[in-house]
Amino acid sequence: MNYTSDILVIGSGIAGLSFAYKCAEAFPDKKIILITKSDEEESNTKYAQGGIAGVINFDNDSYEQHIQDTLIAGDGLCRKKTVEIVVRESTERIQELIALGTNFDRKADGNYDLGKEGGHSSNRILHYKDATGKEMERALLEKVHTLKNIEILNHCFVVDLITQHHLGYMVTKATPDVTCYGAYVLDTRTNKIQKVESKVIMLATGGVGQAYRTTTNPSIATGDGIAMFYRAKGRVENMEFIQFHPTALFQQGVTPAFLITEAIRGKGAILRNRKGEAFMEKYDARKELAPRDIVARAIDSEMKVGGDEHVWLDCTNIEAEILQAHFPTIFEKCLGIGIDMRVDFIPVAPAAHYSCGGIKVDDFARTSIQRVYAVGECSSTGLHGANRLASNSLLEALVYAHRAFEDIKRSLDTIPAHPAIPEWNASGTSTPKELILLTQSLKEVKSTMSDYVGIVRSNERLVRANRRIDLLWEETEDLYNNTTLSPQLCELRNLITVAYLIIKGASFRKESRGLHYTTDYPSKSEVCQDLVW
Ligand code: FAD
Ligand code: SIN
Repeated sequence: MNYTSDILVIGSGIAGLSFAYKCAEAFPDKKIILITKSDEEESNTKYAQGGIAGVINFDNDSYEQHIQDTLIAGDGLCRKKTVEIVVRESTERIQELIALGTNFDRKADGNYDLGKEGGHSSNRILHYKDATGKEMERALLEKVHTLKNIEILNHCFVVDLITQHHLGYMVTKATPDVTCYGAYVLDTRTNKIQKVESKVIMLATGGVGQAYRTTTNPSIATGDGIAMFYRAKGRVENMEFIQFHPTALFQQGVTPAFLITEAIRGKGAILRNRKGEAFMEKYDARKELAPRDIVARAIDSEMKVGGDEHVWLDCTNIEAEILQAHFPTIFEKCLGIGIDMRVDFIPVAPAAHYSCGGIKVDDFARTSIQRVYAVGECSSTGLHGANRLASNSLLEALVYAHRAFEDIKRSLDTIPAHPAIPEWNASGTSTPKELILLTQSLKEVKSTMSDYVGIVRSNERLVRANRRIDLLWEETEDLYNNTTLSPQLCELRNLITVAYLIIKGASFRKESRGLHYTTDYPSKSEVCQDLVW
């Protein structure tokens, strides 16, 4: 069955849901289709722990301080105007979320219990215990379910954006008016590919963590939106800035890696090496609360020196009541594997966590492809620069979802009808004989990225990575052209595209800045620039 909508939203995390409910309320006569490839709550958003940054307590904090902290973490590459927009609009957007019914922890005096994480000069992180994302996802989904003009299609995998290319025209990066008319979608329960036609398309498809062997991201985070947008000849930028979270629980072979929130370091937890030494002061005066790129590199260096697979996080100096009250999910998880945080150290190691680059957007989340908007982790607004400040990403998604909505309010009725769209063409394809080929290639992508394009890079490693990804690309394109589509094949193809973009960005950036560190160019270049592809 094919679908027609006014607004097509791809993704059911904070970005997609907050945009969808605003549009549905403002346009009760318009049809909104929200597509998600898994269960509707499954997303990176659901696993967010630490919270959402925002200026709430004006006695001890200010917009200027939050702006400065974001700029410092971003290591010279943030777009100042974007930082100003996001920080100054934070209070209003967070209040909307609260009005929707989202719970955040309060202190005994009734004021919000604001947490602190790396790189923040003030306590400004609203949280709901250590399960903030789950609480936000709950409140947003509840709201979306009340709106009759939103139709949710769960377990539907968006394969490709429909542009003039599908109408038989040549589309290249130089085509000035690439326009999107909807998407081809694989219903994973019927295995049929349908078209969803729409006037406006919102990409809210999240991150790329699954490109790496060890990641905090759930299995949905395969960079689909970024890859399909790039295939459609859209502009993508700064993909080399992959943020590794310093403290994921180390458990051999367990994926995704369970996160140990930075908020615990905000309460005083200490990083120790194999000898039990607190090592962070050797690396940065801010110690455990330095920005993430610095802490992750320090841990990586300690692990390499000691030949270890992890370091330790010591929470034993934090009162037991605080540990249990503020971090119940982590407390239970650790206890379940025999670690009592009150007395035992937790083994932790860095894990791929967040993509700072992505689909290039302007101040209203508009992309280089007409009618396509991008919000949330798949987008690049310029907020994060070379390294994201902790807890700024949920905030960015809220602010830009609202800005996209404002833009669509102005433009929706002026968008002309689109041309007739052909059905998906599956001729010449047959069922794949061996799925093991896909699984094997996926493993190779992850190990290539982890071994050669991780926290520390070099020219030689990047050349190796490039060669391997090129070969995987050729083999996978062959499968794509000759076999019927499956989500696994599409995800592999998307991850290869994302890997290619990360390697390309890393190879062109002849400097070390923020999250991109290369032994061949260990200093920052004088010229500070975005790399756009
Ligand atoms: P997501 O929430 O990832 O949603 C993406 C959606 O797109 C999903 O519904 C997915 O199914 C759908 N999708 C993807 N591809 C397709 C496709 N091909 N077809 C159909 N649907 C598709 N940030 C903070 O600010 N504070 C925190 O405390 C914090 N903690 C975190 C903890 C963890 C463990 C992780 C992994 C991330 C954390 N982050 C945190 C980052 C933050 O959670 C994410 O950046 C943010 O939630 C992304 O939201 P999103 O809406 O852009 O994407
Ligand atoms: C965390 O809780 O440590 C994650 C916060 C973030 O990714 O912003």
